[in-house]
Amino acid sequence: MQLVKTLRSFSRYVPKDLPPYTIVTDLRPKYTARAAYNLKDIENVLDVKTKPKTFLDYFGYLSVRLFVLPFEDLKKTFSRPREEMERNLFRRLVLFESLAGTPGMVAANFLHFRSMRKQFNYSERINTLLEEAENEKVHLFTFLSIYEPSLKNRIEAHVYHYLYRIYFSCLYRLSQKAAHKVIGYIEEEAVHSYTKVLHAIDSEVLTHWKKVPAPQIAREYWKLPEGANMRDVILVIRADEAFHRETNHYFSDLKKGEGNQFEKLAKLGASRADGESPVSGAKHQA
Ligand SMILES: [Fe+2]
Ligand SMILES: [Fe+2]
Repeated sequence: MQLVKTLRSFSRYVPKDLPPYTIVTDLRPKYTARAAYNLKDIENVLDVKTKPKTFLDYFGYLSVRLFVLPFEDLKKTFSRPREEMERNLFRRLVLFESLAGTPGMVAANFLHFRSMRKQFNYSERINTLLEEAENEKVHLFTFLSIYEPSLKNRIEAHVYHYLYRIYFSCLYRLSQKAAHKVIGYIEEEAVHSYTKVLHAIDSEVLTHWKKVPAPQIAREYWKLPEGANMRDVILVIRADEAFHRETNHYFSDLKKGEGNQFEKLAKLGASRADGESPVSGAKHQA
């Protein structure tokens, strides 16, 4: 409005008989990047379990086992009465997703400062990590748009968040390879959990989620088709987690001097999963 008024007073080219109006120009895209999926193609995302071989693998694997130890097994959650089960499930998803956006942002932060110090451009890797952090943030806000956490849940998320941020920052500072390995295994766990949620939706347990419409934020971010439901949302989130899994294992296994081209990452994902792409049909959009 301010801009229009200014134009009117200073420019004789703006017609005087126009009603007041505001032009809102979104100069920057809302999201840095998104993965566009064909829903049929991501039905069979592979629930990969990487067997630890090296010391680093064991470190990552055991760290994740310790990390998930305090949380209730999903099998137990699904055996609870419906209301209690949904509350427990959302609490878990919101808590995990509020932590999941941390590693990408911390790692990108470190690499940015490293670029400045070492005068070496890590742009590709930084952008991949920022995309991952943003992607996790969308997962979180998708769940928050349908579930209101209690005060206890919020405090819990706060505490876990700070602890996790300190832990991951120290780990990344000590060893980038170890940090990415831990995240690679955490993402395997995420794919596994969402696969269980999908099985619950396809069985009696959560079948009503097929009738719950996809939240606005999810429809917008993943460009979901008309009539998309919560099953489709879980499907695309699981596909995202599969990408994170491949990305982080890839960064951990990266040799010095190798780039991080997305095509190479996709190929790597395919070879890790015995010739099948972990997320076939996915297109990366900038
Ligand atoms: Fe996530
Ligand atoms: Fe993830």
